[in-house]
Amino acid sequence: MAKRVGDHFSKRARREGYPARSVYKLQEAQKKYKVLGRGDRVLDLGASPGSWSKFAASIVGKEGKVVAVDLNPLAHSYPNVISIKADIHELPVERLRQIAECFDVVLSDMAPKTSGRKDVDHLRSIGLAEKALDIAVQLLCPGGTFFCKVFQGSSFDDFRNSCRRHFESVRVFKPKSSRSESVETFLCCTGLKRNDIEQ
Ligand SMILES: C[S@@+](CC[C@H](N)C(=O)[O-])C[C@H]1O[C@@H](n2cnc3c(N)ncnc32)[C@H](O)[C@@H]1O
Repeated sequence: MAKRVGDHFSKRARREGYPARSVYKLQEAQKKYKVLGRGDRVLDLGASPGSWSKFAASIVGKEGKVVAVDLNPLAHSYPNVISIKADIHELPVERLRQIAECFDVVLSDMAPKTSGRKDVDHLRSIGLAEKALDIAVQLLCPGGTFFCKVFQGSSFDDFRNSCRRHFESVRVFKPKSSRSESVETFLCCTGLKRNDIEQ
């Protein structure tokens, strides 16, 4: 059954011109939380093959922009999406500041290469999420939004508490379009606290 749901979303993504089914997770979050708005500057971490960036660009419109970062290139180029091929651990924050003084939204759908060992994969996912949080705190505008994927496990609560220290509101979101057996979950963090903004 879980596989059939996966197939349904994969087919639908192909039909609708998205390179990955993951787009439906962001669409669900958008419907529920209005993560993205017209004119927003969006930093999309772990963006390849590009479904989230394509969807984000359609919401922010010509007045906004999307900067897509990944180890791998995007499957296509999209209007209003600037693509940077980089490891987020070596991401030049100053280069991003030249593109946008600050970002309204930082997205992270990053996932580690899975090893098959739940505890190992969880800790690798937490490592990526912590780095994404660090980048978000450096680059978000006051009041900005951080929407981040993380694999559930023993360090999940600690990571959520780190998010709570930086944001006014932190909500846990499990999209219906996630495979039911998936350990992934998302944190929707809004309202970057003022005293966190690094000059
Ligand atoms: C689930 S995919 C993202 C799918 C994308 N959101 C979409 O909708 O097309 C996870 C991505 O995280 C990227 N990733 C993992 N570790 C990374 C790192 N250290 N730096 C940059 N990207 C990373 C992978 O290369 C992979 O493309």
